[in-house]
Amino acid sequence: MSTQPYGDAEIHLNVVGAGHPVLLLHGFPLSGQMWQEQIGPLSERYQLLIPDLPGFGQSASMPGPFTLKMIVDRLVEVLEHRQLPRPLTLCGLSMGGYLAWEWMTTHRDWVARLILCHTRAAADDEATARARRLAARSVTEQGTADYLSTLTEKLLAPDSLRRTPQLVNRLLDWMREASPSTIAHYLVAMAEREDHRKGLAQIDVPTLVVAGGQDGITSAAEMKAMTEQIPHAQWELITDSGHLSPLESPDSFNRAVLQFLQATDSVLDQ
Ligand code: MLT
Repeated sequence: MSTQPYGDAEIHLNVVGAGHPVLLLHGFPLSGQMWQEQIGPLSERYQLLIPDLPGFGQSASMPGPFTLKMIVDRLVEVLEHRQLPRPLTLCGLSMGGYLAWEWMTTHRDWVARLILCHTRAAADDEATARARRLAARSVTEQGTADYLSTLTEKLLAPDSLRRTPQLVNRLLDWMREASPSTIAHYLVAMAEREDHRKGLAQIDVPTLVVAGGQDGITSAAEMKAMTEQIPHAQWELITDSGHLSPLESPDSFNRAVLQFLQATDSVLDQ
């Protein structure tokens, strides 16, 4: 795959609070806004670094095709340019977790702790990769409307839809900010991502894994099996959540994350 320049195009980065830095990487095809329920509780003790990945939210799009590794390289450049402190806690949800594996592979010294939410270490199997390529073609030719409405229904647990039906429209508003070509390029980048299962046993930083009991995209059973491969990883199952616990069950999510961070702050205090 050819590499494409991204020039001086800006990545939007929201920096809130003070304390040990926590980088929050959003899922696909959302934006940094998906962490809005975390800002109040977490920024009281931590410095939150919340980017919109290229092409999402307020960030300029990146010419494609690109790989997830290229997205990580771009984020690293931005954080270096802003001279933000490190090492940091890397928290990624779903595609944000796929980026976390790339980050651990290419810039391991940046990462002091990991929080892996609703994500998997395995690459796509053939059928999933094929479906993503088909979806990429279809959004390019026909636009994103049908794709996004089907996806939104899969992201949220039935309980969340009953509790906060307005979440659907919030998600759709954020997703519609991305162009069809951005969505298509990320679909292909995810289809081509590497398998990181072999590296799980080598993870040597405190790790929290957060799963949703009603996650229809990344099942809790698959995530539990992944957690068991990571030395000393902590496991948090949010039973009433689908794929987006930071939005669907923010109190449970924030409680679990704060407990983990406070219990492991000593790794960054030295
Ligand atoms: C996400 O939430 O980032 C997506 O579900 C990731 C994926 O499609 O594998």
